Amino acid sequence: MNLKELQLIITDDGSHTIYVPSLHETYHSKFGAIQESRHIYINEGLSYWLNRNLQKSKTLRVLEVGFGTGLNALLSAIYMKDHPEISLKYHALEPKPLPGDITEKLNYCQILHSGEQIWNHIHECKWGSEVRVTHNFQLFKDPIMVVDFKNPYAYSYDLIFFDAFAPSKQPELWKTSIFEKIRYRMAEGGYLVTYCARGQFKRDLKSLGFDVQTLPGPPGKLEMVRADFFVVNF
Ligand SMILES: C[S@@+](CC[C@H](N)C(=O)[O-])C[C@H]1O[C@@H](n2cnc3c(N)ncnc32)[C@H](O)[C@@H]1O
Repeated sequence: MNLKELQLIITDDGSHTIYVPSLHETYHSKFGAIQESRHIYINEGLSYWLNRNLQKSKTLRVLEVGFGTGLNALLSAIYMKDHPEISLKYHALEPKPLPGDITEKLNYCQILHSGEQIWNHIHECKWGSEVRVTHNFQLFKDPIMVVDFKNPYAYSYDLIFFDAFAPSKQPELWKTSIFEKIRYRMAEGGYLVTYCARGQFKRDLKSLGFDVQTLPGPPGKLEMVRADFFVVNF
């Protein structure tokens, strides 16, 4: 993928996404970028996890594979404003950071009527170190490929936002070995959420011991996946 080839397009909910001509692929669903991100990563990820863990944890750790435009990070930081007692540490992997002249054109804050300060901070902050974006949202933009990922922290992740390009476009990101690596970095009771609900992908997750749930997808997409992994101590 060459960053110079990228094109902004408007999706069905009015929000932008990016089209990559050489892959014939978009960063989000053409049926609605914000709708998709909200449904999969906020409602079925963040909100689902918080509803089950409010009593237990004061810190939630997210690992995102494929930071892209930063839309999932923006919606997460906005969502966390309603949960000031919980702190979110958000670690995002992205080997091809988008240049500022693209991210500044994205219309997410206009559509949401909020988040402008957060958005600017998310995009202006340094790559490669942890930065406090709001009082309860810390972001670590990590400019690496998932295959090279080594957890720089001592902790495990409660939520994985797996938002790579589709298996047909970047099959190397959907190999069992990638999910095996991720599984070892997941906290007990943690979840992985993704838009992909392909049969082979679900069978691969099951073979690694994940409990795979197929859920209704966002508008325009039939299904999505949430998978959890419970550590069994013998
Ligand atoms: C579907 S888009 C991500 C959408 C993103 N979450 C957003 O909200 O804009 C896939 C992203 O994965 C990134 N990517 C490509 N190869 C990767 C790799 N080996 N490891 C991690 N991310 C990768 C791409 O550069 C792209 O930004």
